[in-house]
Amino acid sequence: MKKYILIITVLLTSLLKLEAQSSEHFFDPDKLMIFGNYYYPEQWDESQWERDIKKMADMGFDFTHFAEFAWGDLEPEDGKYDFSWLDKSVELATKYGLKVIMCTPSPTPPAWLTEKHPDVLIVNDQGITIQHGTRQHASWSSDVYRQYVKRIVTELAKRYGKNETVIGWQIDNEPSHYGVYDYSTNAQQKYRTWLRNKYDRIENLNETWGNAFWSQSYNDFEQIRIPNQRELPVKANPHAILDFRRFCADEVASFVNEQNDILRQYVNKNQWITTNTMPNHHPVDPNRMDRLDFHSYTRYLVTGTDNGHGDQGFRMGSSFVLGFNNDTYRNYPGKIYGVMELQPGQVNWGNYNPQTYPGSIRLWLYHVFSGGGKFVCSYRFRQPLKGSEQYHYGMIRTDGVTLNVGGEEYIQMMEEMKHIRRNFDKKAEMPEDVKRRKAAILYGIDNDWEMLFQPQTFQWNTQQHILRYYKPLKSFGAPVEIVDENHDFGEYPVLIVPAYQLLDEKLVSRWKMYVEQGGHLVLTCRTGQKNREGHLWEKRFAQPIYDLIGTSSLVFDHLPSDKWSKVNFDGKEFLWNNWGEMLTPTENTDVWATYADQFYKGSAAILHKKEGEGSVTYVGVDSDDGKLERAVLRKLYKQAGINILDLPDGVTVEWRDGFYIGLNYTSENYTMQLPPDAEILIGKSVLSPAGVIVWKH
Ligand code: GAL
Repeated sequence: MKKYILIITVLLTSLLKLEAQSSEHFFDPDKLMIFGNYYYPEQWDESQWERDIKKMADMGFDFTHFAEFAWGDLEPEDGKYDFSWLDKSVELATKYGLKVIMCTPSPTPPAWLTEKHPDVLIVNDQGITIQHGTRQHASWSSDVYRQYVKRIVTELAKRYGKNETVIGWQIDNEPSHYGVYDYSTNAQQKYRTWLRNKYDRIENLNETWGNAFWSQSYNDFEQIRIPNQRELPVKANPHAILDFRRFCADEVASFVNEQNDILRQYVNKNQWITTNTMPNHHPVDPNRMDRLDFHSYTRYLVTGTDNGHGDQGFRMGSSFVLGFNNDTYRNYPGKIYGVMELQPGQVNWGNYNPQTYPGSIRLWLYHVFSGGGKFVCSYRFRQPLKGSEQYHYGMIRTDGVTLNVGGEEYIQMMEEMKHIRRNFDKKAEMPEDVKRRKAAILYGIDNDWEMLFQPQTFQWNTQQHILRYYKPLKSFGAPVEIVDENHDFGEYPVLIVPAYQLLDEKLVSRWKMYVEQGGHLVLTCRTGQKNREGHLWEKRFAQPIYDLIGTSSLVFDHLPSDKWSKVNFDGKEFLWNNWGEMLTPTENTDVWATYADQFYKGSAAILHKKEGEGSVTYVGVDSDDGKLERAVLRKLYKQAGINILDLPDGVTVEWRDGFYIGLNYTSENYTMQLPPDAEILIGKSVLSPAGVIVWKH
C-alpha cells in the first residue's frame, strides 16, 4: 500500500511540476502574440464607454485591462461593494469581442480604509507616515491591510472568476513602494519574526552578522530595528542590510503569492494569474513570486534618461533594454512572459519628455515579439485629461476619438501580425547555427544587493557590468538567457557569470562540472569573494575559485574616475577604469591579458584555461567602454569554433518560432545581410532608423 501511495505521490508531484514549468498552454500558439491596452472606465463618463471599447475592437486589439487602481470605486464604503460599472464594462468588452485582464486593486486602498486604520500606512526612513493621495502607500506587513485585500480580492474572484471574457488576472500593479522602504511598526515586527525564523537563537544572528564588531550584539530579537541609515552615524552592518533586503523581497512576494492563492480558489483553470513588475527594481524579486503562472513586466524607453544610439537615439531608447528584459522574464517561474505596459508615445514623468521617433512604438512591439512575448499591452488607451498623468499619451488623443501616434503604430503592427501568422510553421525549430551561439548569463539577486550596499568604488554598477557582456553577445546574434542557479547550465555552450560575489563550494563544483562537460565558462571580477552570508573566507582572498580559474592569488585595485589605465590583450591596448584584479597564473593557465602600467605592470588581468572540450576564462577587469569585454568574448567564440554575426551596437537580430526579426535602433540606415534564400515578410533589407525586418529561410 505504502508503495502505491509513494508512486502516486511521485506521479502527482511530477505532473504538478510539469504544469508549474511552463504556462504555454494558456495562449493560442497560432496567434503568436496578442495585443491589448489599459482602459479605466471609472475615469470616463459612462456615455463614452461603449464608443471607446468599440474603437479598441475596431482597431484590432484582442483584449483590454481593467481595475488595478479602482478599489475606491469597487468598495466605496467599508464592506459595501459596487460592481455595476465593472460588470457593464466587461459586458461591453464581451459585446465587441475583446477579452479582459482583470486586476486586483491592492495598490490603492480607499481613503476610508486608511482613515479608519492609519497603521496600515508605510513609514519612510525619516519616520514620515506616507499618506493617502497617490498609490502603493500601504504596508505588506500590515495584517489589517492584508485582511482588507483578501476581502476585495475574494469578491472580485467570485464575481469574475468564471467569466469567459476574463482571460487572466494581474495582481496589484508594479508591487513595490517605488523606492521607499517601509520602517513602520508592522514592518519592524515582521522583520524580527523573519529573523527569528531564520536564526532561531539570537546567538546565531550575532555570529552571522559579526556583531562582536563594535559591540553590536543583541540580547533579544525584540531589540533589533530595521537598519536605517538615518538612525546611524556610520554605514550600517552589511549583513543586517542583506537580510533586510531579503526580508523585503519575501514580504512583497508573500503579498503577491497570497493574492494568487485566493484567486486560485475561485477562478477558472483557463484564467491565468500574473503580476507586473518593473525590471531590476530593488528589492522586488520575481523569482520569489513563484506561485504565479508567469511574469510580466512594464517598460518605458523614452524618458529623457537614455541617449540610445546616435543622434536620434534619445527618441528610441537603447536596443538592449527590451532584449534584456525579455531574456530575463522568460526565465522566471512559468517560463513564458508578456509585457503588461509598454510606452504609447510621449510620457509625463521623464527627466524631460521627448516625442518618440516615428516607428519606435512599432519597433518595441516587434522587440517584445522577437523575445517570445505572448502578449503586449499598451499603457494606455486614452490620454487622461485630469489627475497625475495629464501629459501622458494614450492610443487616442485628448479629444477621445482621434488616433495618436501609438494608436497608428499599433494598428500597423496588428495588421502585419496577421501576415506573420499566416506564415507561421508550428514545426519550426531553432536553426543549428543560432543554437550554437546561445549563452546564459547567471544572475543572483543576493550578489546585486550585496554590491549595491558595498560597491567598494563609487564607479561600480552591477547592471552596467552585466551589460558589458550582454551587449557583445547581442551583436554576435546570440540568443541569451538570464538565469538563476535553479537552471541547468548544461544546455548553453557559453555561460557567463558576472561578478558573482556570494557563493558556496557546491556552486563552484557545478561550474567545474559544466566545464568538464564541454561548456565555456566566463567568470568576471568580484566572483567568489564571499560566502552566502557575505563573509570573506578564512582563506586566501577569493580562494574557492582559484583552482577553477588557475590563479594562486588575487588582489584588486580601483582608479579615480578621470584616470584610465591600460591592459594589453592580443597585441592591442584597452582602457580600464573601474575595477582591476591582479592574478598569479598557475600551471596550464594561459594569460590572455596583462596590465600595461601602474606598479603592477606585467601582472595578469585575464586568465584562460582549457579543460577537455570546455574552457574557463576569468576576466579580472571591469572597463568603462566595454571594448575589452567584447574582444574577450569574440576571441572565446572564435576559439570555441562558434560562428557569430557582427552587428553594430543598436542593431539586433532574434529568432522566434521560425521567424528572424531584425531591429534597427540606430539613427542611420542599416543594411541587413540576408541569406540568398531569405523570404522577406515585413520590411526590406535596408532598415531605416526604428526600422524592422522579418524574414524566413
Ligand atoms: C507605470 C505604472 C502605470 C502608469 C505608468 C505611466 O509605471 O504602472 O500605472 O503610472 O507608469 O507611465
